[in-house]
Amino acid sequence: MTILVTGATGNAGGAVVQSLAAQGIPGRALIRSETSLPTGIEPAYGDLNRPDTFVDALAGVTGMFLLSGYDRLDELLTNAARAGVRKVVVLSSSSLDGEVTNAVAAYHHATEEAVRAAGLDWTFLRPNSFMSNTLRWLDQLRAGDEVRVQFPDVPVSTIHPRDIADVAVRSLQGSHNGEVLRLTGPVALTPVEQVAILGEGIGRKLTAYPMSRSETHDALFAAMPEPYAAAIESFFGDGTVDETSVNDTVAKVTGQPARTLQTWVRENAALFH
Ligand SMILES: NC(=O)c1ccc[n+]([C@@H]2O[C@H](COP(=O)([O-])OP(=O)(O)OC[C@H]3O[C@@H](n4cnc5c(N)ncnc54)[C@H](OP(=O)(O)O)[C@@H]3O)[C@@H](O)[C@H]2O)c1
Repeated sequence: MTILVTGATGNAGGAVVQSLAAQGIPGRALIRSETSLPTGIEPAYGDLNRPDTFVDALAGVTGMFLLSGYDRLDELLTNAARAGVRKVVVLSSSSLDGEVTNAVAAYHHATEEAVRAAGLDWTFLRPNSFMSNTLRWLDQLRAGDEVRVQFPDVPVSTIHPRDIADVAVRSLQGSHNGEVLRLTGPVALTPVEQVAILGEGIGRKLTAYPMSRSETHDALFAAMPEPYAAAIESFFGDGTVDETSVNDTVAKVTGQPARTLQTWVRENAALFH
């Protein structure tokens, strides 16, 4: 059994790679440029938007951890089925709680639908925002101890990428076929509370500056294409997605409680110095 991990250098895929290696499960990391990988994980070079670039990488693969939103997915899934892949675990998102018409939900929905139609076993993971999104404050923290936070009044139960990975690896081993797993962290925290936990964990006295709705709007639309900015504004500004509720899916699937933000900060504190 070999697992192909897409997005293997990223927060979620990287955690899947680490989880496979820790459990001694053979893995293959789809990467675009050379990087160091843990023992037991072999590199495979390819571009997710071009399935023709990694046909050989599918040889001997039985399960695939798949990011959403890439091109020519039907071609990738046909190649996978032909190579003997039996199970696909899709990293989808909480955005599918709401309307699928917005740009973010639309690409996750399209990926889920293509996988449903491919005739392979599947599990869809729909996590809340990742704890690793804390890294979006890095630039501000290089400049000082003040962090401007968007949607300051909206508590979110962010999830540790390692919990997503642990659920993914369980699913890749054959459980939860045909299930949609909505994944949350252990507790809902406002961005102001998240900044306080970050400050405590890295030993800095940080101050969160709550951005108004119009400041948030301007920052989002300056940072990304309009359809994505509009989607995020609707999720957290208009409440079209619920990332405040907490569920126990991580604990039920992995047998361990969902990791806390304090844990994530402790593991990543060096990045903030
Ligand atoms: N962040 C959240 O809060 C959140 C919440 C729910 C769902 N999600 C979903 O989770 C996904 C992964 O998040 P993340 O934080 O792990 O992302 P990330 O850290 O930005 O990692 C993205 C990964 O995808 C790879 N990649 C990008 N384009 C590629 C291509 N054309 N071919 C091959 N590999 C490619 C990157 O490789 P390189 O190193 O080569 O760039 C990297 O390994 C998101 O894209 C989103 O769909 C995220």
